[in-house]
Amino acid sequence: MRPSTVTGAVLVATVLLLVAVRDGHCAQLCMDSTAFPRTINGSLSFCGYNGTSCCNATDDAAVQKQFAAMNISGTPCGDIVKNVLCARCNPYAGDLFTVTTSPRTVPLLCNTTGVSSRLSTKPAATMDYCTQVWDTCKDVSIPGSPFQAPKGGAAAPKLTDVWQSVSDFCGALGGSGKSPCLDGEGAAFNATRPALPLNGMCLERIGNGSYLNMAAHPDGSNRVFLSNQAGKVFLATVPAQGSGKKLQLDVANPFLDITDEVHYDNEFGLMGLAFHPDFATNGRFFVSYDCDKTQSASCAGRCACNSDVGCDPAKLIADNGAQPCQYQSVIAEYTANATSGTPATATSANPTEVRRIMTLGLPFTTHHGGQILFGPADGYMYFAMGDGGSVGDPWNFAQNKKSLLGKIVRIDVNTMPSGNTTAGWGNYGVPKDNPSAADPSFAPEVFALGFKNPWRCSFDSGKPSYMYCADVGQAVYEEVDLVMKGGNYGWRVFEGTQPYTPLSSPGGNTSAASIDAISPIMGYAHSSVNSNVGSASITGGYVYRSTVDPCLNGRYLYADLYAKSMWAGTESPEDSGVYDVAALTFSCSKSSPIPCDVAAGSALPSLGYIFSFGEDNARDVYLLTSKGVYRVVDPAECSYACPIKSSAPGASSPAPGASPSSAVAARAPALATLLAGVLLSLPMSLMSV
Ligand SMILES: *[C@@H]1O[C@H](CO)[C@@H](O)[C@H](O)[C@H]1NC(C)=O
Ligand SMILES: *[C@@H]1O[C@H](CO)[C@@H](O)[C@H](O)[C@H]1NC(C)=O
Ligand SMILES: *[C@@H]1O[C@H](CO)[C@@H](O)[C@H](O)[C@H]1NC(C)=O
Ligand SMILES: *[C@@H]1O[C@H](CO)[C@@H](O)[C@H](O)[C@H]1NC(C)=O
Ligand SMILES: *[C@@H]1O[C@H](CO)[C@@H](O)[C@H](O)[C@H]1NC(C)=O
Ligand SMILES: *[C@@H]1O[C@H](CO)[C@@H](O)[C@H](O)[C@H]1NC(C)=O
Ligand SMILES: *[C@@H]1O[C@H](CO)[C@@H](O)[C@H](O)[C@H]1NC(C)=O
Ligand SMILES: *[C@@H]1O[C@H](CO)[C@@H](O)[C@H](O)[C@H]1NC(C)=O
Ligand SMILES: *[C@@H]1O[C@H](CO)[C@@H](O)[C@H](O)[C@H]1NC(C)=O
Ligand SMILES: *[C@@H]1O[C@H](CO)[C@@H](O)[C@H](O)[C@H]1NC(C)=O
Repeated sequence: MRPSTVTGAVLVATVLLLVAVRDGHCAQLCMDSTAFPRTINGSLSFCGYNGTSCCNATDDAAVQKQFAAMNISGTPCGDIVKNVLCARCNPYAGDLFTVTTSPRTVPLLCNTTGVSSRLSTKPAATMDYCTQVWDTCKDVSIPGSPFQAPKGGAAAPKLTDVWQSVSDFCGALGGSGKSPCLDGEGAAFNATRPALPLNGMCLERIGNGSYLNMAAHPDGSNRVFLSNQAGKVFLATVPAQGSGKKLQLDVANPFLDITDEVHYDNEFGLMGLAFHPDFATNGRFFVSYDCDKTQSASCAGRCACNSDVGCDPAKLIADNGAQPCQYQSVIAEYTANATSGTPATATSANPTEVRRIMTLGLPFTTHHGGQILFGPADGYMYFAMGDGGSVGDPWNFAQNKKSLLGKIVRIDVNTMPSGNTTAGWGNYGVPKDNPSAADPSFAPEVFALGFKNPWRCSFDSGKPSYMYCADVGQAVYEEVDLVMKGGNYGWRVFEGTQPYTPLSSPGGNTSAASIDAISPIMGYAHSSVNSNVGSASITGGYVYRSTVDPCLNGRYLYADLYAKSMWAGTESPEDSGVYDVAALTFSCSKSSPIPCDVAAGSALPSLGYIFSFGEDNARDVYLLTSKGVYRVVDPAECSYACPIKSSAPGASSPAPGASPSSAVAARAPALATLLAGVLLSLPMSLMSV
């Protein structure tokens, strides 16, 4: 098929779409982040939480027992200490105790007044909560006090035994602004985010090639790796913002070429690329691709349709005429071709596979995402895997905790087991705190479930505990999920927030009542986008953290594959997990090094298909489309007004120690033409209606 041109689809800028969010199922995090807050039946008898909480009745009883041992019940300080202890039941406990950085024994106490509490109906207190705690408790002996100095001390310390003054105390335990804090009522959020206008996104076209993945060079330099669907990885140098230069990339000399291993067709190809965080010293990198076992001897793995997950391969063939597991999804490790322990300077990879990390046989030919990325906080590898295809996940894989299909998988590629893992998918370690540790009904590799075809996940570089995954819908709704450990994102019980009815269900059903499905934080109905093709398919992006466009800063950017609609989601209040979504118009920079194509009858440039987004070491954001590589630039280049001036330092990322000598100007038309026929069919199968 040919891409249709835009016909009069003029986006209205900054239309505020307040996406329906089921309250209490958002960016909430518990202290033991093996679980997100659960819906509780009734309210906790001691701590009183109802709705969602990080505690169940057992935890509540334990808090009650701890409190009783302090023997301060019924006193003003007792009321405060109870509140502090019960904060672990707050659905925002993880953030209140800052578990993602260095966990605390006492929640962050609000030391300013005037912050807004989502859980409070009372007007803001006149005195800040931290000072109240000090004033009320400073002279009270508290046996087993949670307010302990790091080195311990008295058995029943007073606050004054540990801290000299209210400013000492609040310097250590108080805070506000970045994180939610405990205001005595609930989790208080800083709602006073500067309201910068969102007038549009200005893009420059710096390359002509078509890629599916971008990975910033782990040495922090101004270089990125780009991979195409056919199976080549390129090392490219990013020009400075405002330089008017193009991406420097040598099409004739790829960093790695595994086109012989890769099965390249429609939804198949080289799907993911991730560099070990220590790549600059260890040279390790990973590629996720699809292979065809009838074509390649190394394409041999276990079939995802097997008796462990109640799937009968024979029935699969009978029902669909399909050959199950002819195609496999592979994660393979490669190494930089470096001579003297300096992988950062390598301009090519050793083409021999170092190690097979995973091989997963695919039941059908669609929905197998394939992105890989390293968690910035934990160093584990995350693998985004779709439900394995066909319409409506007939075998109910996405809800099957034992299947890796329809999951975000999390594995450890630093700690390898001596043999195969028990499930036999490959060679990797399992992080000790994966959900299976708390709930053995999970396969060890599973991190989160209920996805149809996660098409592009990212960690917020400004807030690494936030992992966003866009999940391609079936026929009605495209969604963005904030992914938490053990979270169930609903497919195929739900599509978006609506119940979904499968066409066929040989693998059985999961009832809505039996799961605690987490609603999307953002998304859009197919009916709301004018794609000219009668459908839609989401491409997830990044939280924009560059200062080049201050008006986009802090906003999660995402797009529809058909490139007629983009959106920016803003978490508001900060840390609440609640997002305001606005349509985002876009335009081409007047200084674009390669002119953008003009779409007939539209004010928007014609970008082709938006396959993916990318982020470099300067936190600049890119769109990887069928027509090239586009970078977000100073909004003034498109005459978009932003009250804060763009800061686009000439060299925001340092040049590498040794700049690649073979770099030449991007020259990709031959490749683009060659790939066009196949690439253009990708979108059809991505949405796979
Ligand atoms: C909630 O608890 C009440 C009484 O304890 C019980 O009747 C009801 O069935 C429970 N609901 C659920 C959904 O468990
Ligand atoms: C839950 O809490 C809200 C607000 O605090 C209150 O209005 C509601 O009655 C409570 N529900 C139950 C079942 O306790
Ligand atoms: C309550 O939650 C804890 C973890 O917070 C868990 O270990 C325990 O099994 C749960 N108890 C019940 C009765 O669900
Ligand atoms: C608890 O405190 C009261 C007075 O505040 C005291 O009389 C009592 O002995 C204390 N009990 C324990 C177990 O420490
Ligand atoms: C509030 O807490 C923060 C973080 O600990 C500290 O930097 C700041 O000085 C405190 N402010 C006041 C008014 O105590
Ligand atoms: C809220 O955030 C803004 C901007 O980040 C900051 O200037 C302000 O001090 C914060 N307010 C509070 C009450 O912490
Ligand atoms: C590895 O690098 C060396 C020196 O740069 C080069 O001669 C050799 O051809 C490279 N090998 C591969 C497989 O790229
Ligand atoms: C891993 O399992 C596969 C298939 O079950 C088998 O062929 C292979 O020899 C095993 N490898 C090791 C190292 O045990
Ligand atoms: C699954 O649910 C669908 C729709 O409600 C129903 O038609 C089908 O019979 C169910 N399948 C099984 C195996 O229960
Ligand atoms: C990119 O494509 C445009 C339009 O097809 C062409 O004019 C231009 O020369 C190409 N640029 C490069 C660097 O290949």
